[in-house]
Amino acid sequence: MIMVASGGEEIERLRVHYLGKKGILAEIAAEIPKLPPEDKAEIGEVFNDVKQAISNALGAAQTNIQATNSTTTVDTSLPGVKPPLGHLHPVTKAIEEISSIFEKIGFVRVRYPEVDWDWYAFESLNMPKSHPARDDIETFFVDAPENSRYGKMVLTPQTSNGQVREMERLKAPPIRMINIAKCYRRQSDVSHTAMFHQFEGLCINSDINITNLKGTIDYFSQQFFGPERKTRLRPNHFQFTEPSFEVDVICDICLGKGCRLCKEGWLELGGAGMVHPNVLKAGKIDTTKYSGFAFGWGVERTYMMKSGIKIDDLRLLYSNDIRFLTQF
Ligand code: PHE
Repeated sequence: MIMVASGGEEIERLRVHYLGKKGILAEIAAEIPKLPPEDKAEIGEVFNDVKQAISNALGAAQTNIQATNSTTTVDTSLPGVKPPLGHLHPVTKAIEEISSIFEKIGFVRVRYPEVDWDWYAFESLNMPKSHPARDDIETFFVDAPENSRYGKMVLTPQTSNGQVREMERLKAPPIRMINIAKCYRRQSDVSHTAMFHQFEGLCINSDINITNLKGTIDYFSQQFFGPERKTRLRPNHFQFTEPSFEVDVICDICLGKGCRLCKEGWLELGGAGMVHPNVLKAGKIDTTKYSGFAFGWGVERTYMMKSGIKIDDLRLLYSNDIRFLTQF
């Protein structure tokens, strides 16, 4: 146990030095009677003020030290108090990791509006107004005036709204974008939240084919999930790609044999395909010269498929519960 140094002796020393019988003020006081009579009153007053001020200051210092000495003891045998440290949200970490994996192969991270026109979210993606494919996507519409050219405003239900916007920004290939943004759909259960994130890849150039798509998907899967995580493409349908695929990744538990989690050995990652010519045309890309591929996957879903991370209710990610978040 250590007592904090008292400091009391120092104050006593100063008191004697200034106010003691043989102190500086006593010396000065002895000079006052020698002053011319007309100055005595004024100098005497200043002298008294100074003496009072010194006495007050020393008194206050003494009280201070007594208060400190009575409360401050440091037990050096106790363990230190660790200040709580925050860290990035797991979804933010996943977004950073995904961006850096794609940046290594030349995909540029871009961001586009998360409240966007119907034109970019649907119509330019080969989904005309009354097309039934729109029904699959439960969209939130914004109560705002309709634009004569671009239509209604929506909360983007998919990051594909960045496709034509990126074609407009760069005007001509090569295009290699990775668009990561919030998406919104009218859904909420253990595997869905009304707000979630997607990352959308788009690559357009001359001679881009399905092999390039598969190679990119394999590269990502092995970097993000691990070297043994193979992928496969299954035929599917999207309005904005032709042909279209569903991408599966081999299950991290059974590595393809089939288990309770995955049933037949594969887990579904998300959609992909070769960009539909109507979408290239909407972005004013010459379809006789260029072709491209695109994919769009959920960040939360992809993160959960990483080995070692099991979250049985996706909504926990956005519950702001510190007990949950500190586990990552
Ligand atoms: N936008 C699609 C979805 O949300 C995914 C997708 C993106 C499919 C790009 C093909 C190409 O399901």
